[in-house]
Amino acid sequence: MITLGVFFGGMSVEHEISVISALQTIHAFPEFKYNIVPIYISKDGEWYTGPGLTAVQNYRNMSKLLSWCEKVYMTPNRGDFNLYRYKSNMFKGKVVTKIDVAFPILHGSYGEDGSLQGLFEMIGIPYVGSNLRASNIAMDKIATKYMCKANNIPCVDYMWTTDREWFEQHDAKKAEAEEIGYPLIVKPAGLGSSVGISKAANSEELDAAVELASKFTDKIIIEKMVQNLQEINCSVYGSYHDCHASVLEEPVRSGDILSYKDKYMGSGSAKGGAKGMKFGAKGGKFGSKSGSQGMSGSQRKCPADLPEDVTKYIQQLAIKTFKEMNATGIIRIDFMRDSVNGDVYVNEINAIPGSLAFYLWEATGKKFVDVLDEVINIAIKEAQEKHKLKVSFDQNIFAMGAGISPKLGGAKR
Ligand SMILES: Nc1ncnc2c1ncn2[C@@H]1O[C@H](COP(=O)(O)OP(=O)(O)O)[C@@H](O)[C@H]1O
Ligand SMILES: [Mg+2]
Repeated sequence: MITLGVFFGGMSVEHEISVISALQTIHAFPEFKYNIVPIYISKDGEWYTGPGLTAVQNYRNMSKLLSWCEKVYMTPNRGDFNLYRYKSNMFKGKVVTKIDVAFPILHGSYGEDGSLQGLFEMIGIPYVGSNLRASNIAMDKIATKYMCKANNIPCVDYMWTTDREWFEQHDAKKAEAEEIGYPLIVKPAGLGSSVGISKAANSEELDAAVELASKFTDKIIIEKMVQNLQEINCSVYGSYHDCHASVLEEPVRSGDILSYKDKYMGSGSAKGGAKGMKFGAKGGKFGSKSGSQGMSGSQRKCPADLPEDVTKYIQQLAIKTFKEMNATGIIRIDFMRDSVNGDVYVNEINAIPGSLAFYLWEATGKKFVDVLDEVINIAIKEAQEKHKLKVSFDQNIFAMGAGISPKLGGAKR
């Protein structure tokens, strides 16, 4: 049986959403299919494991839950797939278990942005989902724009600034932003969940919007606001040579901007959407009426209300984006459409989408567990392929002697 290390939580503003996504995924697997090892990363970056981590009700009392768990770590050494405990004793050795495949289900910083993926690359362990470069492109809204522009994928006009530039060269930077034309949307470049995002319809609001965004990051993106906005999301899963687009959904907004509340605290009555797994049978529901069901709890129209040719176009654009950015696993691409003139833009890419977009796959007629099996197999296959690649030449330039000097600048070119 494959031992699957499911990593979740993390040093991110989307910590809690990650817990929900991970537990939804863990409970989607039939029992005994995989040996699942939950690895919870605390907000301080400490790693814990223990069976109590898979029951949602235990998260009501974090300190109690963690007192039942063991603090663990992995080393960055290549080929060492062991999960180690900090406190070993005569009865318990240092190794908790060996992990065959790592499955990061984290959202936002240090988990979805390529950081953890970088650690997995160093170790050489197979891991589910996008590599560190694709993850980082998706996480950084500026890098996403570069990737789209370079590949003729439509995205809205924008400029970016650091907070320092904005305050030091205020008039020039503001003029640059105003050239795009009001109304504008201002966002921190590397966050998610609508945190720090606001609309600016005039000069005063622009200053206030940049001020707000600068509280969260030093890189700020200012972009044209799409009028008559219809938001459309599409999930893509697979690998470069074999990837599939889901049905489209249209999230329902309560205001101008799709808010944190809209995304995660809707009524859960997904209109016409996927029923099924809000929370798996064994997991217990996320009790409260406000419905903490991650992305699966938001209100949506599914499938989105669009003519067939537009649906097809957006699905093709989703596949193109997945391939051009070289993504792997399950991602979700969020589009914006002007419902009057029909223009479509890629807004953002989620390398590890909320609830792993299971509700979109179920609405597509695909069993979520089959999608999970496939992305786990892709992780194993891609790691095997990578293993075959050369990482060094069998040549020792030191033994060849010539032209190497310990003095700086002494090396021959
Ligand atoms: N250019 C835009 N025009 C109109 N609305 C926008 C624009 N950019 C973002 N929004 C609104 O703000 C929401 C959050 O922005 P988004 O870029 O998706 O950030 P996040 O990563 O926080 O989800 C979107 O879902 C949409 O409602
Ligand atoms: Mg978004």
